[in-house]
Amino acid sequence: MTALVQARDVTYHYPDGTPALDTVAFTVAAGERVALLGPTGAGKSTLLQSLNGLLRPSAGAVLVGGVAVNDETVTAVRRRVGLVFQNPDDQLFLPSLLEDVAFGPLNAGASRAEAATRSHAVLEALGLAAAHDRAAHHLSGGERRLAALATVLVSQPDLLVLDEPSGDLDARSRRRLRDILAERREALLVATHDLEFVRGLCSRALVLVAGKLAWDGALDVLLADRAMMERFGLVA
Ligand SMILES: Nc1ncnc2c1ncn2[C@@H]1O[C@H](COP(=O)(O)OP(=O)(O)OP(=O)(O)O)[C@@H](O)[C@H]1O
Ligand SMILES: [Mg+2]
Repeated sequence: MTALVQARDVTYHYPDGTPALDTVAFTVAAGERVALLGPTGAGKSTLLQSLNGLLRPSAGAVLVGGVAVNDETVTAVRRRVGLVFQNPDDQLFLPSLLEDVAFGPLNAGASRAEAATRSHAVLEALGLAAAHDRAAHHLSGGERRLAALATVLVSQPDLLVLDEPSGDLDARSRRRLRDILAERREALLVATHDLEFVRGLCSRALVLVAGKLAWDGALDVLLADRAMMERFGLVA
């Protein structure tokens, strides 16, 4: 079976020469739920951005559904790999939530009516229906985070990629977001420092340490291994 996403020895240096990823290799299958862990600066956000073509590897390749990510394929890739940024404000910029959410489907050629129907359905599912005509800057931080998720879910990606989704949420919003993600059928890749958020949500973990993949295996096995957690810089 073709992997949904395949990272083939992905290496990345930022334009200023900073090394961020070093021959990172893994695959994600349809429907898998994967936590991406690692200390600050390990390369998690860089890796997530390489998966939907925002960054192109300096060496190695990313394949989505067996297709290499390049200038010709990147538009199709972004429909399959939906990236929710760490900062929701990077994803919300139109005068109303409904327009923000409808933007992707309209761009992909949906009619106004169809885009609106799908957007309303997603906003409803995330508990944001009543806020559909408000601008993102009139929402709370937690609502903005759900709204950013809505702009990605509406395009029905095969892989949902989330960068630090729980950071600024209170306990109740965090649980709400977790419950919403637990019910999704898409594959999930969640970069986080919040181990409690991914415990039980994800079954597999990837750990990056200084740009290298240091672990690819069961999340509960990793969490139960105190010595390994310390070695990877995952505990205080
Ligand atoms: N635009 C940039 N230019 C140069 N170096 C960068 C840039 N963005 C990130 N880096 C560097 O690349 C490395 C990986 O950064 P990245 O943001 O991917 O880490 P991270 O694992 O997401 O960290 P965090 O947990 O703090 O979010 C770090 O050394 C970082 O300083
Ligand atoms: Mg990051």
